[in-house]
Amino acid sequence: MMSAVLKLHEETHTMPGTDVGRIDIENASVVFNAPGGRKIEALAPTSLVIEPGSFISLIGPSGCGKSTLLNAVGGFVPITSGTIRLDGEPVTGINPDVGVVFQQYALFPWFTALGNVLFALKRFPISKEERRDRAYQALKEVGLEGRENTFPGQLSGGMRQRVALARTFVTSPKVLLMDEPFGALDAQTRVVMHEILLRIWEARKSTVIFVTHDVDEALILSDKAHIMSAGPGRIIETMDITDARPRLAHQMTENFLVNRNHIIGLLRQPGMGDH
Ligand SMILES: Nc1ncnc2c1ncn2[C@@H]1O[C@H](COP(=O)(O)OP(=O)(O)O)[C@@H](O)[C@H]1O
Ligand SMILES: [Mg+2]
Repeated sequence: MMSAVLKLHEETHTMPGTDVGRIDIENASVVFNAPGGRKIEALAPTSLVIEPGSFISLIGPSGCGKSTLLNAVGGFVPITSGTIRLDGEPVTGINPDVGVVFQQYALFPWFTALGNVLFALKRFPISKEERRDRAYQALKEVGLEGRENTFPGQLSGGMRQRVALARTFVTSPKVLLMDEPFGALDAQTRVVMHEILLRIWEARKSTVIFVTHDVDEALILSDKAHIMSAGPGRIIETMDITDARPRLAHQMTENFLVNRNHIIGLLRQPGMGDH
């Protein structure tokens, strides 16, 4: 059964015009219960359609609910009202079709790079050889060929995030949730990670939701940027980013600068926090 599922995703990922990985968010809100019976509204009712295979960013001030929205899509946090659907199915809990890469390196330190990627394939009843082939291929795709037997502690921050990427992509998830994944990396390393991420995304066609508070990062990577208000956040504006890729930060087009100024202007409005 599971291998059939895995195979199906691979086929659909290579088929253009497919409808896999569509997310429909309708009036979804999240209220947390805090000590003393207090309620914290983390996400105001939010509606958003994310097209299959698209790359979208969520930008907004700290504490506006970006991570909360991402976690709700992943089924890690229950929504208080509204609905979130993945390919028509309501999200009710953690879904193996959804992969995550967060800022903190969630690698197993006692496994090698290869061991970490192999772990993700554990639930798929495919042969040991096929598992190894796929894991090696995924590590190659992120430029870690020859580093398969290295432990996370021996890798740089950027390389660790490449392992995390490989581990997530190796299962061909329909949706990839990324929460400020490159926030802890230096600017140079981040440029390399953007190239790697876009290459893999173009090859595998997962839907990507990318949270960042870096306007340039959103403009370099995504098809659409959704700008959120200060908490409890909601989407106040959606920007289509139509510039051809690769979009190089050192060769910004006029359109890039116009978009950048516009978003920074929105984030500087009163009540938007300290951005
Ligand atoms: N588990 C939780 N319990 C209570 N409050 C939370 C919880 N997670 C987040 N919050 C609160 O919800 C709001 C939004 O948080 P978050 O989604 O992490 O914002 P962002 O990722 O945009 O910085 C913040 O006020 C935060 O303190
Ligand atoms: Mg966050």
